[in-house]
Amino acid sequence: MNTEQTIQWFPGHMAKAERKIKEQLGIVDAVAEIIDARIPVSSRNPDLSRIISNKPRIVILNKCDMADPKATADWINYYNSQGIAAVALDCRSGKGINKFSETVKKELAGKLEYYRSKGLVGKPLRVMVVGIPNVGKSTFINRIAGGNKAKAENRPGVTRGNQWFTIDKELELLDTPGVLWPKFEDATVGEHLAFTGAVKDNVIDTLLLAVKLCEYLRDNYKDLIEQRYKITVTDKDAYDIFCEIGKKRGFLARGGETDEDRTANMLLEEFRNCKIGNITIEKVDK
Ligand code: G4P
Repeated sequence: MNTEQTIQWFPGHMAKAERKIKEQLGIVDAVAEIIDARIPVSSRNPDLSRIISNKPRIVILNKCDMADPKATADWINYYNSQGIAAVALDCRSGKGINKFSETVKKELAGKLEYYRSKGLVGKPLRVMVVGIPNVGKSTFINRIAGGNKAKAENRPGVTRGNQWFTIDKELELLDTPGVLWPKFEDATVGEHLAFTGAVKDNVIDTLLLAVKLCEYLRDNYKDLIEQRYKITVTDKDAYDIFCEIGKKRGFLARGGETDEDRTANMLLEEFRNCKIGNITIEKVDK
């Protein structure tokens, strides 16, 4: 992919996001960071920890309906072992969505207790929602708040333009005007974001990407590609596997060669739509 162009493009956006997050940090009790359960490393911005400093953080592993459940459980354990609360959600169907409020209230039980002890009855916990584009921020908020936009008036210190959502009498969410941006530290971050469709296809070499995906699937989810494409995967070269898949689908170019474009598009599309199976690209290092 053309990382040069992307790297030049993102920092300005991230600087703006950082400023906006910092502006609002003082009026929230915690930050909920939404990441993609299939690529928990590449779909987060590692600068967030520095930006939010010691504000409590709740990690949402979203799109868990498409990820490998075992890998998602490993990520939750990983975050918990770092003292960070984490919850796996499927915001498209809404499955498990209540776990979010439960987790926030458990994490911030001390704060709720403090509010009560100070006679601040009815003061809700406030949580800022952040995430890189396409990770499911809007879907999450729509799903959990169901259109319950809070009234914005009479809020000292609250910048106009922020959107507050009431979840229940103890919890409100702030949808930040600035979104996080991915950090292209190395080429794999861009590649993994592209696998999931979070980065547009037009900045990537689709063939290269699809062959890389084949390589990963060969090494990690051999059974799934064998079942889906009715092929036998040995330790074959990833490009050979790619061609075999194309041929099985009847995607042939002139001379009987595999039609690379059609095969690459089909493979990426099927991965993105979870047709190959529940796959996690980035797993916890063991
Ligand atoms: P954003 O605000 O962070 O940019 O993301 P947004 O909510 O727009 O979600 C991006 C895409 O991810 C949407 O799909 C949305 O439906 C999908 N999505 C969000 N959460 C989940 C989830 O938990 N599981 C699955 N499988 N998908 C999820 P889209 O194809 O762009 O739009 P649409 O076809 O749903 O309208």
